[in-house]
Amino acid sequence: MEIINRRQRMMSVARKLRREENRTIGFVPTMGALHSGHLSLIHEARAMCDVVVVSVFVNPAQFGPAEDFSSYPRDLTRDAALLAEYNVDYVFAPTVEEIYPSGFSTYVTVEGLSNQLEGASRPEHFRGVTTIVAILLSVVKPDFAFFGQKDAQQAILIKRMVRDLAFSAEIVVPPIVREESGLAMSSRNNYLNDDQRKAAAVLNRALSKAREAYEEGEHSAARLIEIVRVTIGKEPLARMDYVSVNDAETLEKLEKIDDRPALVSLAVFIGSTRLIDNVVLGKATKHDVAGAKA
Ligand code: PAF
Repeated sequence: MEIINRRQRMMSVARKLRREENRTIGFVPTMGALHSGHLSLIHEARAMCDVVVVSVFVNPAQFGPAEDFSSYPRDLTRDAALLAEYNVDYVFAPTVEEIYPSGFSTYVTVEGLSNQLEGASRPEHFRGVTTIVAILLSVVKPDFAFFGQKDAQQAILIKRMVRDLAFSAEIVVPPIVREESGLAMSSRNNYLNDDQRKAAAVLNRALSKAREAYEEGEHSAARLIEIVRVTIGKEPLARMDYVSVNDAETLEKLEKIDDRPALVSLAVFIGSTRLIDNVVLGKATKHDVAGAKA
């Protein structure tokens, strides 16, 4: 496994793999602090592609001024050891200056989809995400790029950006990986103490109740939202930020779920840690199985 810090080097390695060796590249972008969710993406990439590249870069452009950029967990030595165990071929771990050189002034925004849900609570967040993903896709030029379903809105935006700007990568979004309690794997779970970690299982519990109600015939968004709110309200350590029912592709807000897949997504504070989770209803794929372990 080679760790690459320079984008020129990453570009020339990737070019050689593609052109001279005719090998398919699977790319998993991460901000490090790797957990089983990332490892399942790597596992999927390993199964689908000849070469696996993982980036580790805590992207300042996607953190708001009051967010946790400086305290975000960073441990490249631990991450690299895990990645070597998973037979990753290349780790791209650039510095901030390497990605955003002095004078950097080009940003990518997916209009419309970036300001709602997570974007309403975190202005500029998605501009930062789509900008870094555009840069990384241009550097690595993978055949397939893998993103987690926990960040459902991010995956939707990236698919739209890739389509609109004609990136050649195909975007793959495997299902959410969960702890035994149902808590979705996230680097931010590291901020929770034991009691908070137990309390955080309420996110998946609330979504599972909404899914059960949907399966029993409840298709009104307002009533599904109420089920989620009531369940979250019963957990004293939890504070609701938002819950919403949207079209799973266009993110249009829905009043009723009918023939198109719907994304039920939420953000909840457990103490000062903000966690997100979601379930897709109305689509018979492995993606909407809340509680699935990949
Ligand atoms: O999902 C993440 O970890 C980040 O948003 C990503 C896609 C690596 C971009 O920084």
